[in-house]
Amino acid sequence: MTVLYGFINSCLQSLVVEKFGHDTWVKLSSLPGVQDTFMTYTVYDDILTLSLVTEACSLLDVSADVFLKLFGEHFFQFCKQAGYDTMLRTLGGNLIEFIENLDALHSYLALSYQEMNAPSFRVEMTGDGKMLLHYYSDRKGLHHIVPGIMEAVARELFDSKVTMVVLNQSEEDERTGKKEHVVFLVKQTNQAGKPTDQVVPSQRGLDPGYIELVNYVEYTVYDKSSLFNGDGMAAFDLLFPGSHQCTLSPFYPDKLWMDEKAFCNAFPFHIVFDEDLKIRQTGVNLQKFVPGLHARHATLDQYFIITHPQVTFTIESIKKFINSQFVLKTFKDKYSTLKLRGQMLWIDSLGCMLYLCSPKLRSLQELQDVGLHLADLAQHDVTRDLVLLNQQRLAEMELTNQLERKKVEHQLQVQPEPEQRLIRNCDGPAKID
Ligand code: HEM
Repeated sequence: MTVLYGFINSCLQSLVVEKFGHDTWVKLSSLPGVQDTFMTYTVYDDILTLSLVTEACSLLDVSADVFLKLFGEHFFQFCKQAGYDTMLRTLGGNLIEFIENLDALHSYLALSYQEMNAPSFRVEMTGDGKMLLHYYSDRKGLHHIVPGIMEAVARELFDSKVTMVVLNQSEEDERTGKKEHVVFLVKQTNQAGKPTDQVVPSQRGLDPGYIELVNYVEYTVYDKSSLFNGDGMAAFDLLFPGSHQCTLSPFYPDKLWMDEKAFCNAFPFHIVFDEDLKIRQTGVNLQKFVPGLHARHATLDQYFIITHPQVTFTIESIKKFINSQFVLKTFKDKYSTLKLRGQMLWIDSLGCMLYLCSPKLRSLQELQDVGLHLADLAQHDVTRDLVLLNQQRLAEMELTNQLERKKVEHQLQVQPEPEQRLIRNCDGPAKID
């Protein structure tokens, strides 16, 4: 059984109330199999949400795709009202970056919505410059929400228009079961209807002459490091004062000033593995918690499963999702479950993958449960702060939960039917802190 958080159902309720009126919601919520009050941080069977959608469609005489798209648009506004406005505005500098970071956004939200089974998104740019959006979900039939949200995102965050067409819809067999995979073709135009080039963030707001020079520097076979070194950099600074931090071409040392020991101490949970998944190198603390990693012929899939993104454990699949955040989990039967969260980096010259990660932890309780201490995390690892901050946040959420419950109970006592039905969430979503 899959479940959805009350946040989604509350959003559906507020859509119906706002767009079609209280009476429509009263009619809808009195139908069998539907209910009228939802708690933000409580999970409800997916069937309830799907019934709500089906019933709303037949009551309003609209098709599911039209209704879901409308829901998507409303969802964006609902999230903003719930206090996620800044989070949405700062997610990416353009639509591609925005989509590429949606998984990270949902992963962050999973700190609060612990049972979240969020969808996953991936952008693919085709050889002829087309933009494809891949949507993966354990739920069937919700994909029309995506164009609704994306249109609102493009309009409000990037001052542009998008049109999205379903190119392909398939069911993929994953380890966890069937997964809905929908591919959208995304066309982005500016408000005047002209196609927008996916402008590199560093080029935004710069004059055309400057962009031309940057393009020349970035896209010629010219050795960039010499230009951006010493005199070249100084000359560039004179021409374009204060601008180089936007366009700086990275400087790479001739040799790595780092030895094996320092690296394994600095990144105590990292893993390097080759194309056959054979483990080549690991961080020192990971060795402590998952012994045996350096046995001869040890491969990564003997010790871990990939829980996110839901891909098969092969180097090809990992490469396909290289922009995603990867969550790996140890097998339960052998060790206490340790989850790792981090980034995959392909090292072309070595034919190896570097998994730069930290333990995935939500609270001090979880830290304790896996037998870790804060001291096991590197000093630079922000997981230290995250655990402590979230500890406080979880306590605040519990308080919000209790308040929501009390509010509903109190209002049910004082309100006559049918107003009782409308009590929850008509006054907008529960705000985050
Ligand atoms: C800060 C803003 C956001 C919040 C608070 C949020 C929160 C959530 C939550 C709580 C769920 C329910 C998941 C579950 O119970 O398993 C969900 C699902 C979903 N979210 Fe987000 N989300 C946000 C932004 C977005 C954006 C920008 C998109 C863009 C496409 C998106 C697409 C979806 C979709 C399509 C679902 C439905 C579930 C599915 O397809 O399997 N969300 N979101």
